[in-house]
Amino acid sequence: MKQSSSVEELAAQLRNELNRYSPGGKLPSSRALVERFRVSPVTVSRALAQLAAEGLVVTRPGAGAFRARPRTPLTRTGDTSWQEVALSADGAADLVPRTVDASGVTICLAAPPPGVIEFNGGYPHPSLQPEKAMAAALSRAGRRPGAWGRPPLDGLPELREWFARGIGDTVTAADVLISAGGQSALTTALRALAPPGAPVLVESPTYPGMLAIARAAGLRPVPVPVDADGVRPALLADAFRATGARVFVCQPLFQNPTGAVLSADRRPDVLRIAREAGAFVVEDDFVRRLAHDDAGPLPRPLAADDPDGVVVHVSSLTKATSPSLRVGALAARGPVLERLRAIQVVDTFFVPRPLQEAALELVGSPAWARHLRRLSGELRARRAAMTAGLALRLPGLALPHIPVGGYHLWLRLPEGADETRLHTAALRAGVAFTPGRPYFSAEPPAAHLRLSFAAVAGTEEIAEGLRRLRTACDEVFGGPGAAETVRQAPAGL
Ligand SMILES: Cc1ncc(COP(=O)(O)O)c(C=O)c1O
Repeated sequence: MKQSSSVEELAAQLRNELNRYSPGGKLPSSRALVERFRVSPVTVSRALAQLAAEGLVVTRPGAGAFRARPRTPLTRTGDTSWQEVALSADGAADLVPRTVDASGVTICLAAPPPGVIEFNGGYPHPSLQPEKAMAAALSRAGRRPGAWGRPPLDGLPELREWFARGIGDTVTAADVLISAGGQSALTTALRALAPPGAPVLVESPTYPGMLAIARAAGLRPVPVPVDADGVRPALLADAFRATGARVFVCQPLFQNPTGAVLSADRRPDVLRIAREAGAFVVEDDFVRRLAHDDAGPLPRPLAADDPDGVVVHVSSLTKATSPSLRVGALAARGPVLERLRAIQVVDTFFVPRPLQEAALELVGSPAWARHLRRLSGELRARRAAMTAGLALRLPGLALPHIPVGGYHLWLRLPEGADETRLHTAALRAGVAFTPGRPYFSAEPPAAHLRLSFAAVAGTEEIAEGLRRLRTACDEVFGGPGAAETVRQAPAGL
């Protein structure tokens, strides 16, 4: 029998027998347990440790193991209503009140109820994660010399070098800071670049998690519309002029949620406009490693064509691996790097060294290239299944752009359609999607929904999810012809 299962079995037996002992009473000695259950001393000590972790047993070195005394419940229920005042009655005269609201993020992170198909997930399904390679990398990492010590504050030099190479020749390891994934890097960047109350230009629509960061930092997101070629340069210039903003947050590659790629002719415009405004461009390059296998060559990151240090680049490993491999990078040139470094150290000290070592082991292993190849093929197949299923089941939903990278599709509903009602009906029908509203920092031009194809088990689940979505559309838009009544949505993304 495997060691781990004998530990589980022994722990279960001891758990069942605990009532035999009075609270605080002594359990049989380890030796007695070894003899009685015919297991090794290691198994006994692990099973007791497990019960101790569950709070059922207390172990005292040299004295033995004892049944834990029940914790005395708090007799008086406290009154926490004072906190409502404390959390809101801010004496400081903030120009822009801080709002801390995680709902735009949790909708992509939360697991849907059992049986509900997850078209709302923001990370790859376990079957798309390199689980074996990650486990092997983590175990090798844990044995590396110094793995449990303090890492250099900026991150492991080899990992910084690896991220720098991925960005382009112009970026060196010295320009890179290792961060705890993209979310943390975006938080650092926004806090470093804009003081509370300042405007920050954002694409419209854009990633709600970034809007949440901006609002929690007391910043004022100002939307700049995106079309199928990315942000619209003339409107970007207008927005800089109108607001005096010093920061623009941009996802040039497979934008979330539209999937748009900033076109070759707009790339220099964006950098020039920001430079002329004396502003930074935060480049959120979050899904570069999720290009589909029919994508062809990808445009370089904006940071690779930026001699003047306009771009603060953010990238992350999570989307191509697992939400828990929270390792990413911030890259920047010039004095701003010092500001970013200081904010990051103040906020988080550093990214845990074992995780950095594991990331390094993973991306340096032969399994890495294999995994990325498989992922890009799988994502293309899923995208094809979803677009074909939409054409079949929901031909009236407007899908203005089919991206060749990333993990989701962005659909536009006709004027007057109520995405919240559709969302509720879809959950009833057994499918979850992400409603469009949180992606807009101001009034949306239309109702939308985002359908993710990465978090589901495979193409069969995609087909079933779309069947359920059709049921929900029929319910909300009326009758079996619903998809057709959801006829021509207005033009645009
Ligand atoms: C556009 C974008 N940027 C950044 C992130 C943050 O991801 P992570 O912190 O897992 O790297 C996400 C997550 O959904 C995202 O969609």
